[in-house]
Amino acid sequence: IPVDPFDLVIFGGTGDLARRKILPALYRRFVAGQFGADTRLTGAARGEMETGAYRALVRDALMEFAPEAAADTGTRDAFLDMLAYVALDARGEDGWEALAARMRSGPIRAFYFSVAPGLFGDLAHRLHRHGLTDETARIVVEKPFGHDLDSARDLNRTLARHFDEGRIYRIDHYLGKETVQNLMAIRFGNVLFEPLWNSQYVDHIQITVAESVGVGGRAGYYDHAGAMRDMVQNHLMQLLCLIAMEPPARFAPDAVRDEKLKVIRALDPVARDHAVRGQYEAGHDQPGYRAQVGNPDSRTESFVALKAHVSNWRWAGTPFYLRTGKRLRARTSEIAVVFKDAPHSIFGAEAGRHRNILTIRLQPNEGIELGVTIKEPGPGGMRLIDVPLDMTFAEALGPEEADFPDAYERLIMDVIRGNQTLFMRGDEVEAAWAWTDPIIAGWETEGAAPLAYATGSSGPEDALMLMHRDGRRWREIR
Ligand code: BG6
Repeated sequence: IPVDPFDLVIFGGTGDLARRKILPALYRRFVAGQFGADTRLTGAARGEMETGAYRALVRDALMEFAPEAAADTGTRDAFLDMLAYVALDARGEDGWEALAARMRSGPIRAFYFSVAPGLFGDLAHRLHRHGLTDETARIVVEKPFGHDLDSARDLNRTLARHFDEGRIYRIDHYLGKETVQNLMAIRFGNVLFEPLWNSQYVDHIQITVAESVGVGGRAGYYDHAGAMRDMVQNHLMQLLCLIAMEPPARFAPDAVRDEKLKVIRALDPVARDHAVRGQYEAGHDQPGYRAQVGNPDSRTESFVALKAHVSNWRWAGTPFYLRTGKRLRARTSEIAVVFKDAPHSIFGAEAGRHRNILTIRLQPNEGIELGVTIKEPGPGGMRLIDVPLDMTFAEALGPEEADFPDAYERLIMDVIRGNQTLFMRGDEVEAAWAWTDPIIAGWETEGAAPLAYATGSSGPEDALMLMHRDGRRWREIR
């Protein structure tokens, strides 16, 4: 469905995120016909650059991050023609008149802040001062949304001076992932699961977001942030919310976000020995974390494992185990809902006991798998085995239907449509920091270095112990 005409400005238009994600996502939506050539796209950044040079930069970015653009020169050129570049000083007056001249009245105005959070306030202020915001104007802000609760509050206050909450789109790209949205469809579109979705039937839940890559070229940012701020405070907590929340009355922005907020507020503080952090060592011909960030004393974690409790009627007694890290064995993101044992085994101990596990695979091989217990075939008596009811979307839907759009494609179009359901509200972000801050503060007070783990492993030994102590085990990262 085509969206209404719009003018989009990307502050940080020459940056990494713009080149890797935002511009390729826009290109793909253009190819899909979701908007036409009457759209104005503007890249803005500090450096001087001619529009021609900017288009060349974007063309190169498309070749790299949307390689299908190579074949279709006509569409690619039509896309590039919509682009212009404006050199602009976020902290001064230079360039703002030029930007104002580019904005039309009529189309929806969207401003994408793909810059460090330190500039959010300046940009909001100048947009306002130069009369660039009208009743259609909306802003998109990237993570990290602050560094802790105080800074997130400051940011919320600063943005609120110029924009109502209904015009602020805080991106968490995990919410734009097709399978993450599917979580809600699975839970609230079927009768099968919801009656069992509580502590009476669920033994525990595991959320794993494992990456095989290291910190790459983002050493400066990452060494200041660490896995807790980079991944847990946002992506993993959002997944936890979608798994744990009560059914909202409608799939509407505030209905959904109210329920997510309640989950975050129901989280107990995390006990010191329920939070494990690690840092990868050199291996597989790759440098270790400290060498990679050029900080031989770094105490920043590249791995976190937590045991969390959602203290409410539904979940009391069912732990949520969360883990994420870089340079792990494989790139795997999944959520596993591990159900309890059947109350009594009529087949006797020799038959073996199995648990139902519902696994939602976010990446790769997006799909859902339900482990079901059946009889082992053959004449050998009643022995039980587990078999997966496997629905890999690519097989169930066909490769084309399962060729999911990138999260950014969905989210940027939602901004233009004015749909905030998949964006974080200010109070949600603050509540998430309020939960993670004490864990980070605990580590800082303690002053110990994160535990070393081998590149290509599944994290430090203590993370395994976190579950072993409870008589449980992590699912394998593969
Ligand atoms: C980003 C983090 O938000 O998410 C990165 O800053 C991380 O450190 C990335 O690599 C993971 O996203 P995805 O979509 O590749 O799972």
